[in-house]
Amino acid sequence: MTTPAAVIVDAAAYAQAVENAVKASAAYYTGGTSPMDDDTYDRLVRAITTWETGHPDQVLPDSPSGKVAGGAVEGDVPHTVAMLSLDNVFSPDEFTAWTASLARRIGHDVERFSVEPKLDGLAIAARYTHGRLDRLITRGDGTAGEDVSHAIGTVEGLPEALTEPVTMEVRGEVLMTTAQFEHANEVRTAHGGQPFANPRGASAGTLRARERAYTVPMTFFGYGLLPLADTDTELAGRLRELPHSELMARAAELGVNTTAGTAVPSTTADTAEQVLARVQEIAALRASLPFGIDGIVIKADLAADQQAAGSGTRAPRWAIAYKLPAVEKITRLLEVEWNVGRTGIIAPRAVLEPVVIDGATITYATLHNPADITRRDLRLGDHVMVHRAGDVIPRIEAPVAHLRTGSEQPIAFPEVCPRCGAGIDTSEQRWRCENGRNCHLVASLSYAAGRDQLDIEGLGHTRIIQLVEAGLVTDLADLFTVTRDQLLSLERMGETSTDNLLAAIGTAKGRPLSRVLCALGVRGTGRSMSRRIARHFATMDHLRAADVTSMQQVEGIGTEKAPSIVAELTELAPLIDKLVAAGVNMTEPGATPPSPAATDDATDDTQTAQGSEDSEPTGGPLAGMTVVVTGAMTGALEKLSRNQMNELVERAGGRSSSSVSKKTTLVVAGEGAGSKRAKAESLGIRLATPEEFATLVSEHLE
Ligand code: IVH
Repeated sequence: MTTPAAVIVDAAAYAQAVENAVKASAAYYTGGTSPMDDDTYDRLVRAITTWETGHPDQVLPDSPSGKVAGGAVEGDVPHTVAMLSLDNVFSPDEFTAWTASLARRIGHDVERFSVEPKLDGLAIAARYTHGRLDRLITRGDGTAGEDVSHAIGTVEGLPEALTEPVTMEVRGEVLMTTAQFEHANEVRTAHGGQPFANPRGASAGTLRARERAYTVPMTFFGYGLLPLADTDTELAGRLRELPHSELMARAAELGVNTTAGTAVPSTTADTAEQVLARVQEIAALRASLPFGIDGIVIKADLAADQQAAGSGTRAPRWAIAYKLPAVEKITRLLEVEWNVGRTGIIAPRAVLEPVVIDGATITYATLHNPADITRRDLRLGDHVMVHRAGDVIPRIEAPVAHLRTGSEQPIAFPEVCPRCGAGIDTSEQRWRCENGRNCHLVASLSYAAGRDQLDIEGLGHTRIIQLVEAGLVTDLADLFTVTRDQLLSLERMGETSTDNLLAAIGTAKGRPLSRVLCALGVRGTGRSMSRRIARHFATMDHLRAADVTSMQQVEGIGTEKAPSIVAELTELAPLIDKLVAAGVNMTEPGATPPSPAATDDATDDTQTAQGSEDSEPTGGPLAGMTVVVTGAMTGALEKLSRNQMNELVERAGGRSSSSVSKKTTLVVAGEGAGSKRAKAESLGIRLATPEEFATLVSEHLE
């Protein structure tokens, strides 16, 4: 459940670790900017404690393991009773061991436990005199804290007047709910400030800020009531005698917010097993809570048990924090991708340096919209606080501004739709492709009409958008049935362009199956895979009849790809039927369909059939050869695109490849061929000029 602690090897490393921990801890308790996330800090402290166990005579006075509190802040208001920290456990076994040691210490099993969420905020002491809140003090170093009474009135759940005129101290946690945190960052950035990295930092900063032009609300949850010097003796006695669970009920009666009203109220449990069951319940609810928790606090409920257990200098012995895995980690923002959804919404997504949060490797996080990126002043290369709880999609809380090096780069926003190239409607917070729901259609038609697919001259982007917007084309097949009149009805479409376009569409109808297949955009099949499939099956009918096993006979299609290709072809069946009806060619010239016997053999023994060479065409001048084309083609080959060259190689019986390796048999090197030619030479691979190659494959030139 937890990451193992780092190992400290010597006294110097130990001293460095203590120094780092002290710095991080001081920042943590004062709301400064800690360079460490909580998980990293916890691991560091565990490493320090482990080393100290082996070297008890060398423990440094600053060590976070022995201090009352981590920070070294000089507070000006002494606490009546020290504000202690809590020891941690990380697993059921550690928790059970803790209950056993506590039972040994007090001479019997703990009578009853109280179990409550460990709220992820800052400890605060609120002093009430005759029912009126007159002082707010931070924890500081545990013995004295900072007076932050200026925050009175901004903390929800901490009333300025109690329901009864009692004098006492209420202790608890100040935090920001998710909504409060978002609001705080909006207000702060609107005032030109840097956003806070997470709710905890936001509450710490807000609590201590004195002269701000704005106030933002926070929330208080009480977890302790204790007497003050002026508390009357009878009440003081009761506060010392009541079980924790009853004190919490009393706090609620007095008008103080407690966890009672939340989805994770404080409960009591009689046994360690019951406690662990409750821990699981709270952990399961964590992701859906409107505030952050970083663990569960388990306390001996009865005052008598607490008194018998006593306290150490740092933490009470009658309470323990069962830490939950961290949900926040700092990592780097590497890139921002812009994805277009079904409705044309263009959503940014963060690509992160992979980071493990609660056992899952996180590589992506949502970024809401461009305005949000601007507001949070995110930059490429930034260290960012990433939050991931439960199965919820990870999100970036904010950049960790003080870790900036100056080399961060602004995030570029797209100027045209990254999928279909149309304009972007930026009038709303969420940007949208101007083609809206048609974006996907426009993009897939543009791809289908492209040079390496159906190569329909005159059917550019703008024309496709026109056809789609006019409702003339709703899928690829519709392209082949548009009429002359329909085309003429479009703006800027004269007779000549109409006739040219119709002629180009007519030519496209006769393209080989490999091109049609590629135009269909079956996932996982690009140009060369489409050619291999088309050559293997020769006709669309044979291809559609193929099951997963026969699909695997195509070179390069394994157990993973085959099922998805078969499934997608089934899904495309109505479109393919429509294309057939429109007269589109569905055969691959020169290819012969697989013989039924070959298919039967394959069914008997899929292992040997997979990737079998037998089914590939064996004839042609390049039979058995792997050919790489590089540089500019000249002579008879001058007009051929790289894709067309590859097609030619394959028509002539060879295999096309884009990189030179020991397996390469021939490199066609045109003008300007660089590293591939050099590599071929160093490996002693046969080289051919475009002219030599043209002669070699002359029979197959179209
Ligand atoms: S009891 C003497 N109860 O956790 C007992 N603390 O890591 C100490 N915290 O300083 C406090 N939720 O700021 C207690 N339900 C809870 C808590 C809680 C959060 C914080 C508190 C404390 C820190 C120790």
